Amino acid sequence: MVNFSDLTVVQSVCLALVVIVLVFRAVLFPTFPGYGAFDVGGIVDLVDSSTSSLLRKNVDHGIRRDKFLEVPQIVWGLNNQKIAFARACLTARMLNRTLLVPSLSASLFYKEVEQLQAVSFDKIFQFTKFNSLCAGFVQLAKYSELLNRTGVVEMQKGSGRKWTPAKDLDQLKQFKGDPYDQYEVIRIVGKNPFLWHDHWPVKEYARILECLVLVDEIAEEADQVISRIRAVGREAQGTQGSSQQSDVGNMERASPVATPYMAVHMRIEKDWMIHCKNLEKRLNINEICSSKEVIMQRVGNIKGLGKPTVVYLAVADSLLEDKTILSNWTEGLLPFEKKKLGVVAIYDKYPYLIKSAIDYEVCLRADIFVGNSFSTFSSLIVLERTQKMIRMGLSSSCSTDPSWLSYAYNIKGDFGGPKRWMTNMSDSSLQAISYGTNHVSC
Ligand SMILES: *[C@@H]1O[C@H](CO)[C@@H](O)[C@H](O)[C@H]1NC(C)=O
Ligand SMILES: *[C@@H]1O[C@H](CO)[C@@H](O)[C@H](O)[C@H]1NC(C)=O
Ligand SMILES: *[C@@H]1O[C@H](CO)[C@@H](O)[C@H](O)[C@H]1NC(C)=O
Ligand SMILES: *[C@@H]1O[C@H](CO)[C@@H](O)[C@H](O)[C@H]1NC(C)=O
Repeated sequence: MVNFSDLTVVQSVCLALVVIVLVFRAVLFPTFPGYGAFDVGGIVDLVDSSTSSLLRKNVDHGIRRDKFLEVPQIVWGLNNQKIAFARACLTARMLNRTLLVPSLSASLFYKEVEQLQAVSFDKIFQFTKFNSLCAGFVQLAKYSELLNRTGVVEMQKGSGRKWTPAKDLDQLKQFKGDPYDQYEVIRIVGKNPFLWHDHWPVKEYARILECLVLVDEIAEEADQVISRIRAVGREAQGTQGSSQQSDVGNMERASPVATPYMAVHMRIEKDWMIHCKNLEKRLNINEICSSKEVIMQRVGNIKGLGKPTVVYLAVADSLLEDKTILSNWTEGLLPFEKKKLGVVAIYDKYPYLIKSAIDYEVCLRADIFVGNSFSTFSSLIVLERTQKMIRMGLSSSCSTDPSWLSYAYNIKGDFGGPKRWMTNMSDSSLQAISYGTNHVSC
């Protein structure tokens, strides 16, 4: 540790300044977990460096803050964009560089690049919060942090069958060394990061997804949808309690615990059905597509559900006109989509990406989530729910724990219900999650 008697006067003054700054930051930002101010290694680094660089932090928890990585615009569905973003972060981490905050895409156009509606990352996710939660792992920088816009070297990502994961990894390793390492910015050109080869374990993706926190405006919209769902559930339980004079009903109303709800990500729209039928043929698996009848039946067979239970149906907008998705559910399950819930106006204010982010949050925070294991959207939700279980120190075994329950309705489980589903956090790549799987670890 620092020996005070060895310090020169200048160093002592600097150390005092650093301590003052640290105390100040501790007072100003007491609630940021993992905030850099408390890192003892950081203090020693500062004292050890020359006076002139004392106030310039070039290394933040092991990630260089003066070397950057730039990636192409992140495109496609919300889930594709999250995975692509995380892959860009992990690439930056491997190169020991700070990622220049990439543009996301607000719309879902696949081909017309000019219609992709670039939207800045910090319109959707909290920038500062990301850096504090992911401190020591990956870091984001704004373009204004660049010192010298001339020091750029381009890395052209290869493509085609001959561009193997091994070649891709070799290229990354090459760019870790000189002369490339000298450049202030490495700019990757070519395909969007979702299509890059994957070199990182599931755990590292989970670590990054945890740092993505919605900006307040969007989080508040999600909160509103969720309170509406819970309010509908409370009303239903209240009605039942008084009509049946049930003690359980009264107890539940008095209970401070929020009324539980289930979210079902129902993929039954035409596009999906065509896609999944093709997938079934190609993979020679017959448990990818589930009809709405199968979904309703399996969800109805989940054991131990309190009744009545509100079921939020996360469905494509094209299905909101389809009355049949709301009928024929097992008694005691009360299905709602955005329209019946009266929250369409909340969603309609926003472009595709934000609509999807709100639905994602509603599914993520549900007491029970049921999705399709071949959907990337469902798979990412289960990954984050599994990570939450692990963070809470809950058992990571499928059979025992009743919190953060998730199921895959496309696979038959016990008692004719859907199959319990958890992400295998030991997997060595995200491949299975990106493209769907019937291995649900339970
Ligand atoms: C990044 O570089 C810094 C400074 O050279 C070093 O201290 C740190 O360990 C490196 N971090 C990683 C993740 O390689
Ligand atoms: C910026 O780049 C130019 C040209 O490469 C170089 O001469 C100059 O020293 C650089 N400035 C800084 C602050 O790195
Ligand atoms: C509901 O189920 C019954 C019996 O299986 C069936 O006859 C009816 O057509 C179904 N109704 C809808 C709207 O799917
Ligand atoms: C999880 O993945 C690891 C590594 O691929 C594998 O060895 C293990 O059997 C998997 N566990 C389950 C429950 O599928």
